[in-house]
Amino acid sequence: MKTAQLRKIHNNIQTWYQTHGRLDLPWRTTEDPYPIYLSEVMLQQTQVRTVLERYYFPFLKRFPTLKDLAEAPLDDVLKLWEGLGYYNRAKNLHKTAQILSQQVQGLPPVLPSTIEELVALPGIGKNTARAVAAFAFRRPVPIMEANVKRILCRLHQLKTPTDKALWEIAYTMIDRENPFDYNQAMMDIGATVCTATNPSCEYCPLQEICTGKNTPLIYPTRKKRTVPTKEQYIMLTLYNDKLALSQRKGKFLHGLWGFEAVEAPLCAAEYLGEVSHAYTHFKLHCKVYLYPALDREEGSYFSPQEIIKTLAISKVDEKILRLYLSCC
Ligand code: ADE
Repeated sequence: MKTAQLRKIHNNIQTWYQTHGRLDLPWRTTEDPYPIYLSEVMLQQTQVRTVLERYYFPFLKRFPTLKDLAEAPLDDVLKLWEGLGYYNRAKNLHKTAQILSQQVQGLPPVLPSTIEELVALPGIGKNTARAVAAFAFRRPVPIMEANVKRILCRLHQLKTPTDKALWEIAYTMIDRENPFDYNQAMMDIGATVCTATNPSCEYCPLQEICTGKNTPLIYPTRKKRTVPTKEQYIMLTLYNDKLALSQRKGKFLHGLWGFEAVEAPLCAAEYLGEVSHAYTHFKLHCKVYLYPALDREEGSYFSPQEIIKTLAISKVDEKILRLYLSCC
């Protein structure tokens, strides 16, 4: 693309952003790298609305700085992440804060500003590193989240591009003079104009250079995903009005507390009902049973209030707890 044409498009994008962009998102009005980094990690798999409504502010209130985060027990971090899913994100945030805390003894931890140093930290991939570099340190680098990908595919009529091809295009397009607004604008254009199912090409600031605007819906090819269903029996062991829970050890939901899954429910157990929850790669369907134990068996027991107040549990376990509370 010619320099003059690119300059014109950058101008269109910047003007569009000033009028229609989500300028007041809290991570766009701060210069502090830590909340910017936090927002990018939360937004990796979660919608803006959910992050804003339930997670971003309470997390920052409890851990206002990287130092506070580094010094907190992981259980507290997971508790604030509860329900957001993809818990490795929380563990990696915590680990990163601890690594940075150990780097310069006596000084508060700070995030590095280069892509190379950022990608070396746990949980910071190619896109998050660039997002932090562009938004916290005003580096002239592009970002590549789902909305931006869709725009680039439509611009160039790409149905199934490789990541490498998309990054190459992204680098040719970046507005080096204002990478912050350019990248934020691209995400907003993707979220509100170049949408997946109902794009408004007539309002798009990139329409002059978009080669896919006559048939935008065919770019990129949308993958149909069918996910398997995993069936589980969950046994709630009840003793003295308290329920047994243990902290998960395996890879899945590691570190969260949860109820026990069993091969088959005990005969003495009472059937309570069913809950299900969809994860990215499978759907979990649980038949839930209640077993009132006569003796206190090994393990940790908590009242429903204690579970809600102090333990980090997964969405499925929260649904199971609600089912239990609705039955008793
Ligand atoms: N998704 C990822 N980063 C974002 C940002 N900075 N603003 C809005 N949505 C985003």
